[in-house]
Amino acid sequence: MCGIVGYVGTGAALPVLATGLSNLEYRGYDSAGVALADGDLDVYKRSGEVDALRAALPESAPQHRGIGHTRWSTHGPPTDANAHPHTGCSGDVAVVHNGIIENYDALRAELDADGHTFTSETDTEVVPHLIEAELETGASPREAVRSAVERLEGSFAIVVTIAGDDELYATRRDSPLVVGHGDGEQFLASDVTAFLEQTREVTYLEDGDLAILAAGGVTIERDGETADPDRETLDWEADAAEKGGYEHYMLKEIHEQPAALRQTLSGRIDPDAGTVDLDLDLPAEYVSSLEEVQFVAAGTSNYAARYAAELVEELADVRATVEIASEYEFSGGRDPWRTLTVAVTQSGETADTLSAIRSASRAGARTLSVTNTLGSTVTRETDDSLFIRAGPEIGVAATKTFASQVATMTMLSVALGRQRGTLSSDRASEVLSSLRGVPGAVQQVLDRADDVGEVAREHADADAFFFVGRQYGCPVALEGALKLKEISYDHAEGFAAGELKHGPLALVTPDTPVLAIMTDGSRPDATLNNVKEVQARGAPVIGASSHEGADRYLDVEWPVPDVGVLEPLVANVYWQLFAYYVAESKDRSIDKPRNLAKSVTVE
Ligand code: G6P
Repeated sequence: MCGIVGYVGTGAALPVLATGLSNLEYRGYDSAGVALADGDLDVYKRSGEVDALRAALPESAPQHRGIGHTRWSTHGPPTDANAHPHTGCSGDVAVVHNGIIENYDALRAELDADGHTFTSETDTEVVPHLIEAELETGASPREAVRSAVERLEGSFAIVVTIAGDDELYATRRDSPLVVGHGDGEQFLASDVTAFLEQTREVTYLEDGDLAILAAGGVTIERDGETADPDRETLDWEADAAEKGGYEHYMLKEIHEQPAALRQTLSGRIDPDAGTVDLDLDLPAEYVSSLEEVQFVAAGTSNYAARYAAELVEELADVRATVEIASEYEFSGGRDPWRTLTVAVTQSGETADTLSAIRSASRAGARTLSVTNTLGSTVTRETDDSLFIRAGPEIGVAATKTFASQVATMTMLSVALGRQRGTLSSDRASEVLSSLRGVPGAVQQVLDRADDVGEVAREHADADAFFFVGRQYGCPVALEGALKLKEISYDHAEGFAAGELKHGPLALVTPDTPVLAIMTDGSRPDATLNNVKEVQARGAPVIGASSHEGADRYLDVEWPVPDVGVLEPLVANVYWQLFAYYVAESKDRSIDKPRNLAKSVTVE
């Protein structure tokens, strides 16, 4: 996701910012920029890599203050103009921002009417204009930043610098920011990696804090008063730092899921009203006359699609099918005008999925992509696109993109149901409230990671692992097994729990742990019978459960918080952690498993 770096001190700002941006490259980005500040502001920004920006920067620059940013596009494609920092009309206020400003449309309209001119398509650009407007009324820089930020809805980490001023201003809501303390110089970043060569003395900011950084020191305002929060001293190795302190990108990305999910949902749902705003222009008549929503996808995305298909059938009351992209043909007596073909692909570049979507388009079906990558091939080849906003995923094994795909398609299912008149506003409110609870529920699972690690290590030498689930739990069983086999190289299979007795039961022994989902949305009563069947054959059973009384039949029970039909999605986080710790105990190449690639661009 986007990265922020800031510097104020007695040394030159430019080399610190340039190094900081290079250190942030691992997070993934598609453009970068810096603003150097003194009596006035010099802004440099480029789409593409930090090297492209470096080529545009002067060799040296006298300024002692500045901010930098690596952008990962959410509003507007990766162009020079959309890269951060953004400035107001006068060019005296520069801002870098991570997150999403939900009410930027309304703010932009208001600022437009007041004569402000915008030069980008980003949500961020409203911020320097708002600060500029406050400064024009005579507010001090500190007041101007505070008042502007009070008007923002959404999630953000924001850093501001103003021409002719000596300070940097930083504030956050639901997006990290950390201050680095040096001797006569201070640093700021979204991630300590950015300035680890400079200092290891840090203060993590909290939501609502306003940090004011000057060369001589840092003031933090919290709840209207000056606060003196504790400093921490980091002792990270450079390699760990690059992964945000985690040993592998995969583990970092598993832990990023609450934040990724919040970004996915940000500004799109209103649980009280039971409404969803996905910025999709599907004609009402077309949506009402739909006969089939047909998903095409590969790998993990295919399992996310299976989850979604169940949701579409339940909430939008329309037939939903899922095809493996490489097997797809538009056939079988479908009416293309009443079919919506949805390509689910985190990369947007999977050859099999692109080929499937081309076939659907040729047949005349309307197409929609659900992807994590703005500007990817699939977004150019489908009629509409839905962006899952999970942030870059570097580990080959997909984790946070699965969660964000399912969350995005839950919103899609509600939107279709509401538009088709098949979903009551009460039920829509219920599903959306559950969805809003998912980031917190996932965090509760993550808080038990040590426990999961212990159980995983105990079973790491098993002969094979079987994952079972019903209904929404079925695709999660398939995904759990896929994760485990991808990164541990162990034999793992996922089954619909009811299928166990039709074959796989022959494989079950005391050396084959069975991992079962026993939550809402996964018919836990019926699954309990299957759990008893495998237990009778001596298999240890690990359950991700919200089902009262299940503990009597489970060797290990991990609790799943109450989020209705999304409980299997939350349970999946246990399976991700389990796979991770089994693979870790075997010292596997977790981020780059043998023979696998993140984006498969061949058929
Ligand atoms: C590869 C990756 C999988 C991924 C699949 C589909 O096989 O290793 O993790 O699920 O491609 O990728 P997509 O980008 O289309 O979601």
